[in-house]
Amino acid sequence: MSPAPDLPLATPASAIGREAGALLRDYYRRGVEAEYKGDVDLVTEADRASEKLIVERLHAVFPEHGVYGEEGTRSNIDREYRWYIDPLDGTTNFAHGFPVFCVSMGLEHRAPSLLPTQDGEVVAGVIYDPLRDELFTAEKGKGAYLNGASIHVSRVADLAEALLATGFPSRKRHDNPNIHFYQEFTLRSHGVRRPGAAALDLAYTACGRLDAYWEFNLNPWDTSAGALLVTEAGGRMSSFDGNPFRLDSKEVLATNGLLHDELVGFFRNMFAGHELEPIPTPAEFAARRAMRKIS
Ligand code: IPD
Ligand code: CA
Ligand code: CA
Repeated sequence: MSPAPDLPLATPASAIGREAGALLRDYYRRGVEAEYKGDVDLVTEADRASEKLIVERLHAVFPEHGVYGEEGTRSNIDREYRWYIDPLDGTTNFAHGFPVFCVSMGLEHRAPSLLPTQDGEVVAGVIYDPLRDELFTAEKGKGAYLNGASIHVSRVADLAEALLATGFPSRKRHDNPNIHFYQEFTLRSHGVRRPGAAALDLAYTACGRLDAYWEFNLNPWDTSAGALLVTEAGGRMSSFDGNPFRLDSKEVLATNGLLHDELVGFFRNMFAGHELEPIPTPAEFAARRAMRKIS
């Protein structure tokens, strides 16, 4: 694995992510009360304290940049560079003592000629998991890294041999169709995980722990950093119909690239209500495995 090159945006942001992560770790060990933002959408004192810290540090390090945070920060967001901050991704896990959560920070560069409806380019991303001390970083055109070592997506080319992940919204969950996709993909793969922190799901896809990940109804603070990690690690990002991923998209499909067309095909057929090809029997799975070994 080659060492990380000079990352002038991600490196200073990493120091901020680590500091926010340490703060989250302290709150996690002490235990915090959760409040309801709506439905089953939780927020804690730790979410707010982490956002406050990140915003203060970003303004000090990058005074020209805007910041858009999940917990309400809208600071200079008309600037050419804009950070999307999820100060605590995985709040439900955090509040229950389930040890999967992170800080996520993605930087969008918006050329002055862009219309408000157009996406800029995500140029840097940082995701920090404070319990495992895992720092994922990426900069546009410079690769993706885990604790400074280069990472790459997996080489699994068949859904039947893939490990996937997804998530479910904490708002309007009754309207969400994802359980149907969850069932289909579970029966057609090695399994579907639901770890509960979208940014980590994307980071895990980037480093090959997962082969693909999808979710409905995410926000740019969940996806901006992870989307860059996935593409810089050699993977693909799109909406479920295969169209380019957008920061405001309500559909996120991230794969190692090799699985992308197969998954888009399933989404297309399921949305259209078409009959899917039958789930392979154990004998058919075994036969396909044997065929792959030969070829
Ligand atoms: C949530 C997590 C979860 C995903 C939800 C998100 P939060 O973010 O990323 O994995 O399934 O849709 O809202 O609220 O913990 O920052
Ligand atoms: Ca989130
Ligand atoms: Ca959050």
